[in-house]
Amino acid sequence: MLRNLLRRRLFSYPTKYYFMVLVLSLVTFTVLRIHQKLEFVSLRHLELDGENLSNNINCTKILQGDADEIQKVKLEMLTAKFRKRPRWTPSDYINMTSDCTSFIKMRKYIMEPLGKEEAGFPIAYSIVVHHKIEMLDRLLRAIYMPQNFYCIHVDRKSEDSFIAAVKGIASCFRNVFVASQLESVVYASWSRVQADLNCMKDLYRRSTEWKYLINLCGMDFPIKTNLEIVRKLKSFMGENNLETEKMPSHKAERWKKHYEIIDGRLMDTRNPKTQPPLKTPLFSGSAYFVVSREYVGYVLENEDIQKFMEWAKDTYSPDEYLWATIQRIPEAPGSLPLSHKYDLSDMQAVARFVKWQYFEGDVNKGAPYPPCDGVHVRSVCVFGAGDLTSMLRKHHFFANKFDVDVDVFAIQCLDEHLRHKALEMLER
Ligand SMILES: *[C@@H]1O[C@H](CO)[C@@H](O)[C@H](O)[C@H]1NC(C)=O
Ligand SMILES: *[C@@H]1O[C@H](CO)[C@@H](O)[C@H](O)[C@H]1NC(C)=O
Ligand SMILES: *[C@@H]1O[C@H](CO)[C@@H](O)[C@H](O)[C@H]1NC(C)=O
Repeated sequence: MLRNLLRRRLFSYPTKYYFMVLVLSLVTFTVLRIHQKLEFVSLRHLELDGENLSNNINCTKILQGDADEIQKVKLEMLTAKFRKRPRWTPSDYINMTSDCTSFIKMRKYIMEPLGKEEAGFPIAYSIVVHHKIEMLDRLLRAIYMPQNFYCIHVDRKSEDSFIAAVKGIASCFRNVFVASQLESVVYASWSRVQADLNCMKDLYRRSTEWKYLINLCGMDFPIKTNLEIVRKLKSFMGENNLETEKMPSHKAERWKKHYEIIDGRLMDTRNPKTQPPLKTPLFSGSAYFVVSREYVGYVLENEDIQKFMEWAKDTYSPDEYLWATIQRIPEAPGSLPLSHKYDLSDMQAVARFVKWQYFEGDVNKGAPYPPCDGVHVRSVCVFGAGDLTSMLRKHHFFANKFDVDVDVFAIQCLDEHLRHKALEMLER
């Protein structure tokens, strides 16, 4: 009796069982295959090269650095047809975002993570803007991923329609929001830092998931895909990455005097200031950073940092030394040692690629980058289509400045390229 039962258990029952498992696996496998194929088909719609601004310009050639094609862009932008093309205004955006489903579909935002690796490594963004809603939409779309977090700080002085349009865009995504506290941003003043701090606080409270914070302005555009950024960030292993160098003596004027906002402009009062309340000497850098979540927590909570920031509030362009200096405080998470051997220039840091007019020239004769193909604003190149080829060889995450009113083809071609790269990597 017992023997019989055992025999049954060992032979007949397992065979049936194995058969069922086999059938089930086959069904699951087939369903998965079909599902995967469908996914690829639908992702093709996310390519951006159908968004022809003009049928005359070939972005492939632009990215190859084809001189004739780059010249064609300049001529195209002069034509009456191009100059009179319809443009989206803030009220168009308010209208379009009243139906989020159609807005997301029409603008081709990516609504699913493009892979496990990216999904498991969310990034937070602080974006400071004051005008040009189309630029913001293009920038956001280029960096948007459902797993990331986006805080947009809108200048309190911005037009009401612009603020409403930004709120409209934010309302379409659960992970995009407008900063809870808005500053009136005055050029070179503390308000620029405060705008980022407001977003930092909101993002820090909003989620514990994100690993790194990157700050942007409305004239930035990525030159790397989200996956490329994620992989590079992982390689930092908790270290921050931003420009931080020896303070040039001529910049000391900026924090040795008390500055005040008079009639909407930051003015030197000639009243001397005390020394900074910090053991670390001041370092020079830029407004842009790539910092870890731990660093953000330290900046928001450490008492010495609060004192340092309080001291910095009446100086000129505190953004250009504050982050660079905190990055050299030995106890700051992810910081660099004080020694100048660890200095990182703007070209070495990944945060931002910027072409300064006085450094442009013949690369073969020692210039850090070739001449600007666009126009200069305050000695900084606003990129043209001809700047893309060499820019894409840089290791930076973002480049500054882009402007739809200077060269929209530079932005469109870069956008198409990055989107294509992101979708292409997915299929491998
Ligand atoms: C873009 O292409 C579509 C379809 O090929 C065409 O109908 C449209 O006129 C083009 N737009 C411009 C601005 O050339
Ligand atoms: C754009 O240029 C590339 C490279 O020269 C070429 O292979 C491609 O066919 C062109 N595309 C169009 C639409 O003309
Ligand atoms: C948005 O614009 C379309 C086309 O101009 C118009 O038909 C529609 O009524 C507008 N919607 C709203 C909510 O204003």
